[in-house]
Formats: sequence, C-alpha cells, structure tokens
Amino acid sequence: MAARENFREDVPGRANVADTPELIAYYDELERLQAGALWTVANKIEPWQPASASVPVLWRYADLRAHVLRSLALVAPEQAGRRVVYLSNPGRRDVSAAVGWLYSGLQVMNPGEVASAHRHTASALRFIMEGEGAYTVVDGHKMTLGRNDFVLTPNGTWHEHGVEAQGTPCIWQDGLDIPLMNALEANFYQVHPELRQQVGHPVDDMANTWGHPGLRPSAGEWTRGYSPLLKYEWAATYAALQRYARATDGSAFDGVMLDYVNPATGGPVMQTIGASMQMLRPGERTRAHRHTGSAIYQAAKGSGYSIIGGKRFDWAERDIFCVPSWSWHEHANASEREDACLFAFNDLPVMRALGLYREEAYGDNGGYQQRA
Ligand SMILES: [Fe+2]
Ligand SMILES: [Fe+2]
Repeated sequence: MAARENFREDVPGRANVADTPELIAYYDELERLQAGALWTVANKIEPWQPASASVPVLWRYADLRAHVLRSLALVAPEQAGRRVVYLSNPGRRDVSAAVGWLYSGLQVMNPGEVASAHRHTASALRFIMEGEGAYTVVDGHKMTLGRNDFVLTPNGTWHEHGVEAQGTPCIWQDGLDIPLMNALEANFYQVHPELRQQVGHPVDDMANTWGHPGLRPSAGEWTRGYSPLLKYEWAATYAALQRYARATDGSAFDGVMLDYVNPATGGPVMQTIGASMQMLRPGERTRAHRHTGSAIYQAAKGSGYSIIGGKRFDWAERDIFCVPSWSWHEHANASEREDACLFAFNDLPVMRALGLYREEAYGDNGGYQQRA
C-alpha cells in the first residue's frame, strides 16, 4: 500500500485526523472509486493565505542576450513559428510560466524576417528591448516599434511581428497569459490562412487616433474589451512620469507610478493583463507591501534593486524579474543622481474582476497593516 500524505494541523477548525489501519483501508477504498476523504487534503488545498508555487527570479539580460542571439542561427521563424527563449520559473516548469499564471519570453528577429500571422485566446504584449525597425501588425493596423515601446496583441486579434529589411536584429519581451488560459481550459490557437494579413490602415493609425492625453476622437466608438491604442511609446510615457513627479510624492510602495490604460474606458489595457511604468527618483527606496496577483518587471531605465520575499535582486536596464502573488516586495533606485524606471505587467485585472484583490503594507512596528 502506497503511503498517503495526510495534511494535519493541530488548530481548532482545521483537519487533524490521525491515520489508523481502519482509516487507511477506508482511504484505499475511496481511492478505488476515484474519491477521497477531504480531511486528509483540506489543509493543503485551503491554505491560510495564498501559497505561491513560484519563486522570485531575476533574469539578467547580460546572461541571456548571447543565447537569444544564438537562436538566430539555430532556427528559422518558419520552423519555430516564434523564435523565443522563454523564462522558466523553477516552481512553475509544469505550466511553462515565468510566475504564477503569466508567461514571458525573449523573442528575436533578423532584419527582413516576418513571423506568420496567427491569433490565440491568450492576451499578449511586447516590450521592445533593442534593435531598429521592429513592427507589429494587429488586425490590419501596423505599428512601428522602438526601444521601451509597449504594444498589445489582445486575445482574438490576428497579429504578426517582423523587422524591416533595413533594420537591425531586434529583441523584445513577449508577455502572455498562456498558463492562465490553459488553467481555465479556454485556450485556442489559429494560424492565419494566408500566413500574412493585409495592412488595412495608415501605419500607426491607432496611436494617431487614440494617443492624445485628455482627448479622444469625437466620433470614436470603441466597444471591444481591450485598448484601441495598441501601442504606448516610451518617449510619451517617460515625459508623463516626469510631469507627474512634479505633482506628487508618489506611492510609498511604488514611487511615481502610472498605469497604462484603455483610453476609451480608463480601465486596464486588456481584460486579463494590466501594465504600468513606475519611476524611482534618485536614491528612492520604497516601503514593502504584498498583494494578490503576479507581476513581471523589466528595468526600462537606470539600475537598482528589489527585495522580494526577503531576497535582494540587483537589476540593470533590460533585466527581468518576477514578484509572485502575496510576496513582500520593495524597490530601490541605486543611483543618487539618475531616476530609474520599471515596466511591469500583471494579472491584476483578473484579480480585481473576480473580487480577489487584496493588499497589505509591511508595518512599521513589525506588525502588518491591512488595507481593503
Ligand atoms: Fe501571438
Ligand atoms: Fe506591488
């Protein structure tokens, strides 16, 4: 008879049943009927608080870049579909997640290459790391992309990525909610019947239509569940952070932080993925907090460190790191002169939509102060 784990806790209200020969025989009988006694697993499947299987990880760009570039010679986009080195969390290898239910990878393309057009249930984003001439086409809207630009490929939209012939090798981070879609058993994938889509609009038309702070097109109708802006350029984002910094002391936990939003609703950019850019002023170190929801960060500017789950991770530009759900985290700018900026994407729209968002500040007196 195989040893069966029994998750006992000596706490009133929790399961605490000692094994006896009779009970073990009973458990065996249940198992043969594809059933089980809840009290043997209740304490495991209902932890007192979220118990993330993910561990905090920092992926250094300096370590990964050469390997990413090497894949250019190893596989063609026609073979691989997408030429990507994905980030694998040691606690989440079974679902190919970088953290929680989020996927991340570094994609690379040579000038003149185009990956085949496709669409999927997973929502996706790109954050450009290096190179000139990258572009994405989403449902016939072509967008030119530069360093630190952020672009959406929302669920169900046809999309393809490429680099113009006169460009340079381009690397970007791909962020998706593939693991979440698989967990929900709702993931579909389709290759475009012609492998390419027609560009049906002027280049960058969505940014030119929807990308004006405080203004929106008078005739603008937009009812889909994602932002029509599709692309958020770095220059405008950084300028907005600098202006906001003149007006605020910022959050004690995040410094000067702006969320990327859907300009038609003010809500998150996609239904399942939110994103933000935060600036840590010279010498700034934030207070620790924790919340439900997972996040993947990429250093967009400057250098610093984050303490995640009690461990320090030093980051520089283009490094990527993750914060698992309900892990304490705080961020610091290592420079006394330059600001530092962190891009992040997360599953907070899911947490909020399902009523699961919860946040806690690390208390000054060693205790915890909970916020609703
Ligand atoms: Fe895709
Ligand atoms: Fe946070």
